[in-house]
Amino acid sequence: MKKRIGILIFIACSFIFSCKESSTNNATYSKDIAPIIYKNCTPCHRPNQIGHFNLQTYTDVQSNAKAILYTVSNHLMPPWPADIHYTRFANELVLEDKEIELIKTWVNNKCPIGDSNAIPPVPNYPARSLLGTPDLTIPVIPRKIIGDFNDQFLLIKVPFALPTETYAHTIEFVPGNTNVVHHVNADIVRFNETKKANVFDGNWVHNTVTDSTIKDAYQKMGMLHDDGSYPTLHRNAMNYLPGVMAQEYPDGIGDILLGKKNAFLFSDIHYGPYWEDTWDSSYINIFFSKTPPNRTVKEFQLGTLGVSPVLPALIIPADSIVTVCSKYVLPEPISVITLNPHMHLLGKSFWGFAVPPSGDTIPLIRINNWDFNWQNYYKPKKPIVIPAGTVIYAQGVYDNTSKNPFNPNKPPKTITDKNGTMRTTDEMFQFIIMYLEYQKGDEEMVLEKEKK
Ligand code: HEC
Repeated sequence: MKKRIGILIFIACSFIFSCKESSTNNATYSKDIAPIIYKNCTPCHRPNQIGHFNLQTYTDVQSNAKAILYTVSNHLMPPWPADIHYTRFANELVLEDKEIELIKTWVNNKCPIGDSNAIPPVPNYPARSLLGTPDLTIPVIPRKIIGDFNDQFLLIKVPFALPTETYAHTIEFVPGNTNVVHHVNADIVRFNETKKANVFDGNWVHNTVTDSTIKDAYQKMGMLHDDGSYPTLHRNAMNYLPGVMAQEYPDGIGDILLGKKNAFLFSDIHYGPYWEDTWDSSYINIFFSKTPPNRTVKEFQLGTLGVSPVLPALIIPADSIVTVCSKYVLPEPISVITLNPHMHLLGKSFWGFAVPPSGDTIPLIRINNWDFNWQNYYKPKKPIVIPAGTVIYAQGVYDNTSKNPFNPNKPPKTITDKNGTMRTTDEMFQFIIMYLEYQKGDEEMVLEKEKK
């Protein structure tokens, strides 16, 4: 009996394998592999990009075949921390199972090139912008990076003046030196022009690690009006992560009012460690609105400094794993257009979902292996419509043991959110939700940009 079952399983398996093989066993570089690599890997694995080595030619890919197979079968590359079995996004970087299967077969067949004349041309990446011709380009103050293998987390001010009030539709950060520029989160500050004599005053660079409070930093950086009052702050106007394109919303959505005197405030720019002295000169491209803005992107956040407290309070004792949560009852119906979970170095996993007064749970996002280096802004394919009265939940797990390779303290020590100092070595727990006030028809709005 046992034997018969064994044979049956054997037959079933060979049947499954032969079916799979018949669809992928002819995989060649020119026909199957190059298009996958160009679309999913080359954006980062090309000269002057973050991926350390190039994946542009047959030789590049063939000579790294083993490492490629390992990283794609283990879903390490392309980097996309969100669980695709939970929710999918318009801006996701993922390989479909079919594509992974093709790569597997191709590597196992010793990387056949196929018709070498039919290899599609390597994508052409425009040098100064990935989106088109900007209306305005503003340089970020060039910075010398000392080659001492240290991370730097800085506040940087990028002031700019305009002849008239204007709306920005899309804002793109272009890294100067991708060896060192790791990520950027920036707000736009719009000054009341009569209350700010010189928008270019103050220190343009500020070290976030050694200074105690943010307000202090703002003062030193000339980010306040001359009378000490606060200018208008538009949070999260620009975000950059290697390989991730700028946020683009449909026309009329998400436009940001710029005054005559403004500044970008990089609330966080991370320069990664490097082995020799080098320079960075990054810049910002602004694309002005072509149609009048009609819907404002709003945001709220659960957790640290947000609309709902972290429960229990964010205190993570040394050598412990701690789970916290935050929940918020939504007062009005909204159409969610971006999700941004945020934790620091001790983060282990993150989960966000919504429970409406009636009906099924609305899944938002799940990140099973938190990676501080890949903090995406997750844009759903269509707005996620959430009715009033829904409870939005966020849950985060923190690992403050020495098993966490990102733990900044050896040995671990007790870490808290210190009321939101935002220092990388303190912790935060935030679920930032960007949304539009709900309008009928939002369910069908397409947020995914057409692929050119
Ligand atoms: C968003 C940018 C990005 C994309 C897209 C990307 N990579 Fe990477 N890749 C990196 C970075 C950065 C590293 C360096 C390791 C790290 O920081 O995680 C890396 C490392 C690697 C490594 C070396 C891993 C190791 O342990 O040394 C391989 C192999 C690799 N990538 C393959 C790929 C393949 C294949 C694709 C496409 C299917 C891809 N990558 C897409 C950024 C990217």
